[in-house]
Amino acid sequence: MKKISVAEPSIGKKEIEYVTRAVKSGWVSSRGEFIEEFETAFAAFCGVKRAVSTSNGTCALHLVLLALGIGPGDEVIVPTLSFVATANAVTYTGAKPAFADVDAACWCITAEEIEKRITPRTKAIMVVHLYGHPADMAAIGKVARKHKLLLIEDAAEAHGAVCRGKVVGGLSDAAVFSFYGNKILTTGEGGMVTTNSRKLADKIHFLKNHGMDPRRRYWHPEVGYNYRMTNLHAALGVAQLERVDEFLAQKRKIIGWYRNALDEKLVQLQVEMPWAVSAWWMVSVLVKGCAGEERRNAIIAALAKRGIETRPLFYPMHFFPMYSRSAPKGGLPVSEKLYKMGINLPSGVKLRKNDVAYVAECLHSILAYH
Ligand SMILES: Cc1ncc(COP(=O)(O)O)c(C=O)c1O
Repeated sequence: MKKISVAEPSIGKKEIEYVTRAVKSGWVSSRGEFIEEFETAFAAFCGVKRAVSTSNGTCALHLVLLALGIGPGDEVIVPTLSFVATANAVTYTGAKPAFADVDAACWCITAEEIEKRITPRTKAIMVVHLYGHPADMAAIGKVARKHKLLLIEDAAEAHGAVCRGKVVGGLSDAAVFSFYGNKILTTGEGGMVTTNSRKLADKIHFLKNHGMDPRRRYWHPEVGYNYRMTNLHAALGVAQLERVDEFLAQKRKIIGWYRNALDEKLVQLQVEMPWAVSAWWMVSVLVKGCAGEERRNAIIAALAKRGIETRPLFYPMHFFPMYSRSAPKGGLPVSEKLYKMGINLPSGVKLRKNDVAYVAECLHSILAYH
């Protein structure tokens, strides 16, 4: 039986060559030629002054929040529909995530929903460019300026996404990317902070390196962390970044194939807004008329029987025990509806047109029964 995975990475000759070079150089930890090369190239890709590599996207979020001075007593507004790391990073600092709802079409947090959640304790807004689709940074930026709030992009899933003509990563005080194995670019595990503030980048670099004074070895004026990326991971990252245009072009081909193959009477794709260019990390659909998680799960299981790996949409984070008291009265209805109906379809760059046709055909025939 054909096996189609949800997001298989593409590791080519270049990746193997660069990682081999890094291993052979002896620089296998967090120093070596590839670290700086990756950071410089990634900053250029996002059009920002600085990029700081980290061990993963979650610790990159943690570092950004710490470096911006967020801590106990503060609230950070986040969309409830995201991967749990978005809220957990806020919690690590002692601050509280305040959950906001998302837009029903593009599934990202909106300026209107953010305004509803602002309190005297609000210190920052952390948007998420969900499944590769950018949040509307122009509208959200206005809210941040009006209320004097810090603005952070969780761009873990959105390398190369474009909002109103500007690539994500430089549209806020600082942005964070993930290079986990299923992401648009991978280093195995890895993360990056991008920012136009040299001061903030220096602070993040200091914190990720055990809080060591850069001019005085083994002098640690603050509690820091070991959140560094290794040269081996950076070598993989440099090779992947050299192929980013190829990956993003392939992603656009894949969404085009799905648009042609899927029956809109049965499923609704995540909507790409007129002002946005999604990076299409995950091609995701809502199953029309799907009122419960059980039916969605049955569809996922039926696809798995046909060799097709999929994922459910994220649970709204205010459903989790540790965050259930942070939900506003009346809940967050859009996110609560979306997660029950949503499925991430196979989206990896190695997909071919006939794979997409097979997924669509199986999905349609399963929906005729479920
Ligand atoms: C929206 C979002 N934020 C943060 C993360 C955390 O990144 P990492 O897995 O690299 O720690 C992920 C995914 O993995 C994510 O999807």
